Amino acid sequence: MSLLLTGIAELTTNDPARADGHADRGDALLGIVRDAAVVVSAAGDIEWVGPAADAPDADERRDLGGRAVVPGFVDSHTHLVFAGDRSAEFAARMTGTPYDGGGIAVSVAATRGASDDELRRLVGRRVAEMRAQGTTTVEIKSGYGLTLDDELRSLRVAREVTPHTTFLGAHVVPPEFASRRADYVDLVTGPMIAAVTAAGVAESIDVFCEPRSSHAFDGEESRAVLEAGRAAGLALRVHGNQLGHGPGVQLACELGARSVDHCTYLDPADVEALVAARGTTVATLLPGVEFSTRSPYPDARALLDAGVDVALASDCNPGTCYSSSIPFAIALGVREMGMTPAEALHAATAASARSLGLERRVAPGFPAELAVLEAPSHLHLAYRAGVPIARALELQEPVGLQEPVGL
Ligand code: NIG
Ligand code: FE
Repeated sequence: MSLLLTGIAELTTNDPARADGHADRGDALLGIVRDAAVVVSAAGDIEWVGPAADAPDADERRDLGGRAVVPGFVDSHTHLVFAGDRSAEFAARMTGTPYDGGGIAVSVAATRGASDDELRRLVGRRVAEMRAQGTTTVEIKSGYGLTLDDELRSLRVAREVTPHTTFLGAHVVPPEFASRRADYVDLVTGPMIAAVTAAGVAESIDVFCEPRSSHAFDGEESRAVLEAGRAAGLALRVHGNQLGHGPGVQLACELGARSVDHCTYLDPADVEALVAARGTTVATLLPGVEFSTRSPYPDARALLDAGVDVALASDCNPGTCYSSSIPFAIALGVREMGMTPAEALHAATAASARSLGLERRVAPGFPAELAVLEAPSHLHLAYRAGVPIARALELQEPVGLQEPVGL
């Protein structure tokens, strides 16, 4: 049964060819169509997009009552496979204790102690929470197992909910290897990568490259991990320049990583490297982390003005940001990092998709991964910060659409 969606006050397509005016409102970047309609095929793909007045017929019809529709958010950086609670660590940070990565060991111990079913239940609940806030595509990292078996099962659990899984065995050096760092790097680059690729459970590899943290990895260790991952056929992602200036951004650009994430502390040479890597390496900003660690925000405005590809993601994890909300990241991008609402939405959809090797558009032939807003335009994502106005559009069961959006 094909489905015609009407009553769309504003449709963001991410297709610049579709812009219908209002340059000041970001229409060109977002490819906005007003009073739009979309036809979705029985298989869940988009068949037709355009002004409602020109819409073809379909088997079924659903009126969205004047709501805005945007591409489903792509959360390209999350750590959803974990057990345990670190809320006390958050509270301590709010009164001045700095973040140094040491708390990761607490999540590692709890995750190792959890059953497969418990991890599955926790991941399922977190993914549902994300869909309820408009996210339709998620990347999930391992990194709280840090033994071969615990990393493998973390990736297996993640793989049950997304193809975009990332092996993060090089998250921190686990406590049992504290006095044998080199042995742990050998374990990651040798047996762990071999097992993960043999099992076919990871799309990418990531490393916490942070010489300022005694728990994380320096430039040379990170290079070893990334080169081994690349040789095994994994795409590269990097946690870089989060706690201070470091080698992560340069390394990611040099090795052709799909994404370098955090980018909180950059010098002019890092920005130049990111500009040169445009089209290959996306700078993924995670402002929920700066919010939850009381840190300065990265300068998104400077990166955008320089011509860098900038994405936004949640970094949902138990330590630096236990928020799964992309609208929250968008609001922070706009309020704290100098992004326009259109740039922030583009960063959380088109650019974050690119960092996963995907394209996110509302156009014929693309999957109908859409989010509906309880609002007439995308501007409300930042304007109504903290209000749950976005949700993934469920093609099968229309919920809560009886009332028009009512403005
Ligand atoms: O992206 N920086 C390293 N990893 C996570 C935090 C992990 C944790 O503290 O549990 C991050 O911020
Ligand atoms: Fe992270």
